[in-house]
Amino acid sequence: MKIIEAKKKDINCIIKMNKEMADYHWKIDNYYKSGREIEFGFKKWILKNFGKRNFKILIAKEKNKILGYGIAEIKKPKPYIRPKKIGHLTNLYVKEKYRRHGIGRQIFDKFLEWFKSREIKHIELSVDSRNQIGISAYQKYGFFEYQKKMRMDL
Ligand SMILES: CC(C)(COP(=O)(O)OP(=O)(O)OC[C@H]1O[C@@H](n2cnc3c(N)ncnc32)[C@H](O)[C@@H]1OP(=O)(O)O)[C@@H](O)C(=O)NCCC(=O)NCCS
Repeated sequence: MKIIEAKKKDINCIIKMNKEMADYHWKIDNYYKSGREIEFGFKKWILKNFGKRNFKILIAKEKNKILGYGIAEIKKPKPYIRPKKIGHLTNLYVKEKYRRHGIGRQIFDKFLEWFKSREIKHIELSVDSRNQIGISAYQKYGFFEYQKKMRMDL
C-alpha cells in the first residue's frame, strides 16, 4: 500500500468516498446533508482547488484500489489566532473494510511531512462530538480539544 497524491482521474473515486463520509455524518445527525445532497458542491470545490499550492489530496492505494483519502489545506487562521498560517486537516476517510490497520495514520503522517516542509506549526480540524472513532483516531495522532462548537435547535 502506498500513500500518494491524487491525480485528476482519482476524483470520481474520491467523490464516492466523500459521499460515504457525508452519509456517515448524516446518520449521526440529519443537520448534516446526505452524500447525494453534497456531491455536486464537493465536486465543484475539489475542481476549483485541485493543484493549488495550499491544497493537497492524498490517497491510499493498493494495486489499483483506492482504500482511503485525505484532504489538507494551508490556511490563514481566524483573525484572533496568533500564527499567520496554520494547517487544516479537512477530510480523512478510510473505507470501512480497511479501517484500523493504520491507513488513516499513514495518510496523516504524509500530511504532517508536507506541513513541516511548509513551516506550519499548528494543525486544526473539526470533528463531530458524537464521532467517537474519529475523536479517538485524532487523539492518537496527537490532537487535543481546544474549543467547543455549540448549537441550539429551535
Ligand atoms: C477516522 C478514520 C479515518 C481512522 O482511520 P483508520 O485507518 O481506521 O485509523 P488508524 O488505523 O490509523 O487508527 C487510529 C486510531 O483510531 C481509533 N480507531 C480507529 N478505528 C476504531 C474503531 N473501530 N473503534 C475504536 N477506535 C478506533 C483507535 O484509537 C486507533 O488506534 P489503535 O488501533 O491503535 O487503537 C476512519 O475510522 C474513518 O474513515 N472514519 C469515518 C470517517 C471519519 O469519521 N473521519 C474523521 C472525521 S471527519
